[in-house]
Amino acid sequence: MKIAVSGKGGVGKTTIAAALVKLFSGVNRRVYAIDADPDVCLAAALGIPDDITSELKPLVEMKELIYARTGGEDSYFTLNPEIGDVLDDFCICQDNIRYLRMGGVKKGGSSCYCRENAFLNAIVSALLLDKNDVVVMDMGAGIEHLSRGTARGVDLMLVVVEPGLNSVNTAGLVKKLAADLGIKKVRIIGNKIRNRREKDFVLKHFPENELLGFVNYDEGVWESSMESGSTITSKESFLRNLEYIQQKILNEI
Ligand SMILES: Nc1ncnc2c1ncn2[C@@H]1O[C@H](COP(=O)(O)OP(=O)(O)OP(=O)(O)O)[C@@H](O)[C@H]1O
Ligand SMILES: [Mg+2]
Repeated sequence: MKIAVSGKGGVGKTTIAAALVKLFSGVNRRVYAIDADPDVCLAAALGIPDDITSELKPLVEMKELIYARTGGEDSYFTLNPEIGDVLDDFCICQDNIRYLRMGGVKKGGSSCYCRENAFLNAIVSALLLDKNDVVVMDMGAGIEHLSRGTARGVDLMLVVVEPGLNSVNTAGLVKKLAADLGIKKVRIIGNKIRNRREKDFVLKHFPENELLGFVNYDEGVWESSMESGSTITSKESFLRNLEYIQQKILNEI
């Protein structure tokens, strides 16, 4: 099962992605936590120290290695038997969580990264080695990642919104681009909900069948983001609140 978490900047993508990684890993599934955001915040949210993350080779650097082994770009698309043994060098393992970072982000004005993106796509496609494995990708803010196409092939695109028009508008764009990429399921999560009015605001903007659920504003989560080294995985009550979202994801796929 592959899930991508997207949405406007600051809506809570990383927070929700980290919580889902933790919850799925808690039911003995192997979870690949992929930071597709160049800011690599997912690692911190999972409690992986910065000095360890900064040492980790990004997935995009695996390209040369695979290329050398298989002898051509076409073979990126039949990677499965090839990556198993090299993947460990690109992972931080924490119980049954495997953290990976993508790297190789196209920067404004730089040369085209199409090959890198095609490669990253192929790697993600090759990741599900067991049908119980879960891939959770924390995408960068906004819609840039969708134009890179690295979310192609996910089973479910979660779009996080907060009660505000800007995030709702971004969600509309994400939905459209996800459809262009052939992603069949796109579901909305209303995050940081503080009252009925905010919930109604989200309900007003999305059809009920597209809404996966709501996550309440959590003072503890907000406050701890001011502390260095704070991790979402220690927020038990917040995680419990997301269990029904986890269940709904399982029902969707
Ligand atoms: N349900 C919540 N309750 C309270 N605070 C929250 C909640 N969800 C996220 N936050 C806080 O909102 C801020 C932004 O969250 P987060 O970093 O997860 O967003 P993001 O969408 O990943 O941002 P970016 O676009 O920069 O990657 C953080 O301070 C986080 O602690
Ligand atoms: Mg983030």
